[in-house]
Amino acid sequence: MDYSIETLAFDKLETDCVIVGIYENKQLSPSAESVDKISQGVITQLIERGDIKGKNAEILWINYIPNSPIKRILIVGLGEKGKLTAKLYRKALSSTITALKSTSIKTVNCTLIDSDVNDKETSWKTRQIVERFNDAIYQYQETKSEKEPKLTLKKIQINALAVEKERAAIGLKYGVAIARGIELTKFVADLPGNVCTPTFLAEQAKEIGNNFSKIDVDVLEENDIEALGMGSFLSVSRGSRQPAKLIVLNYQGGTKESKPVVIVGKGLTFDAGGISLKPGAGMDEMKYDMCGGASVLGTLKAAAEMNLNINIVGIIPSSENMPDGDANKPGDVVTSMAGLTIEILNTDAEGRLILCDALTYAEKFNPEVVIDLATLTGACLVALGRVPSGILGNDDDLCNDLISAGETACDSLWRLPLWDEYQEQLKSNFADLANIGGRDAGTITAACFLSRFTEDYRWAHLDIAGTAWRTGANKGATGRPVPLLSQYLIDKAGA
Ligand code: BES
Ligand code: MN
Ligand code: ZN
Repeated sequence: MDYSIETLAFDKLETDCVIVGIYENKQLSPSAESVDKISQGVITQLIERGDIKGKNAEILWINYIPNSPIKRILIVGLGEKGKLTAKLYRKALSSTITALKSTSIKTVNCTLIDSDVNDKETSWKTRQIVERFNDAIYQYQETKSEKEPKLTLKKIQINALAVEKERAAIGLKYGVAIARGIELTKFVADLPGNVCTPTFLAEQAKEIGNNFSKIDVDVLEENDIEALGMGSFLSVSRGSRQPAKLIVLNYQGGTKESKPVVIVGKGLTFDAGGISLKPGAGMDEMKYDMCGGASVLGTLKAAAEMNLNINIVGIIPSSENMPDGDANKPGDVVTSMAGLTIEILNTDAEGRLILCDALTYAEKFNPEVVIDLATLTGACLVALGRVPSGILGNDDDLCNDLISAGETACDSLWRLPLWDEYQEQLKSNFADLANIGGRDAGTITAACFLSRFTEDYRWAHLDIAGTAWRTGANKGATGRPVPLLSQYLIDKAGA
């Protein structure tokens, strides 16, 4: 999709379709007013007639305007004026693109940048238009016979006032970068487990390294991983025929001396549970257990595309978790890179086993902060559903910065406590700690486990088990938390 900013006067506008917003109570947006004037008042007449009320996400097509270079008008309801929140704005954008998707229109001119969204300015609105539209037109085709998406839409122009052009251009640059990052994350996440293996993920990372001069990619093989002493990580991979990979992406946008933001993503390309085998129903969705890793790829790509002036390291421990004669068994004790021994009471709590070694490895980069992303616990879905991702960490400032980035990006987080009392649940009679903490507070005890390996730096853990993909008829990856991480990095870069 081609996105651009235009500053066209409406009487000069030649387009297949112009998108304009209206509010309830017959209030028009400035663009709707201009288009109404040059089209013999067709918008006001339709409102008078009651064909559209202006309720949020309401849609009305005007498919023919006599003697006009504007071929169609798509009117979108924004709801009550003065009450257009970020969430409602995004809802209106979604219904707009849904309406467009089913037409044969090739180019559109979107004026929704002139909507009055509470506390939001031009660049934010531009970003949202690009992000929402690009998200909605994504179509998974890779393993279908029909490889080409049916979409005819090729060009989306965003119409800005001349005075706003600069802000809109910034929004466009960031919006397109983030949208492409999300697209990559969704693409690799949606691929089946027999295509998206640890080796495939490593290849994707290398391709990013080839495309961006500021990103170096290093892939550590099983013998390297063993030499580092990552006995916990490798124990998970032993039950799989696919070799494990430790994928490292190093983005150098800042000065040599500046400490990097390190982002660690769980890259479990299929989680069958191991010997503690998962039930069959819905197990296909465990191909999404690499969404943390996929989000590392998408975020690094977006950061490089935005050319942010900071350093970022992405680390993806990648493996499968399968039942096998050589797989971990309940009761096995393994030794992590940090030297702590771990009793594996449930082989399905494998995410923490691969992450703990990656988190120890992160120390070598002398991080400013470390953020890990993982589809870590079903308990997070029970606690928070599919609305926010869970966040836990050992640093209030870091958690608060991430939470506020999530609010700006409409990619929300909700914090859970990481109190010492919960550490009790991880006691083991046979090792330094157990890999599960019982039924209670599963998301918290998983984070407690990780916290034992992150004591030397500021750290936050995002549990994305409920947010990384949609289940049901509309099953598919969401690309979360790439939007919030991109926002966090933009804030960090002061961009
Ligand atoms: N990848 C799963 C977590 C998961 C389950 C995410 C369902 C999304 C939906 C993880 O490896 C896992 O199996 N966790 C166990 C932990 C338990 C054994 C302590 C879980 O949540 O059941
Ligand atoms: Mn598991
Ligand atoms: Zn898992």
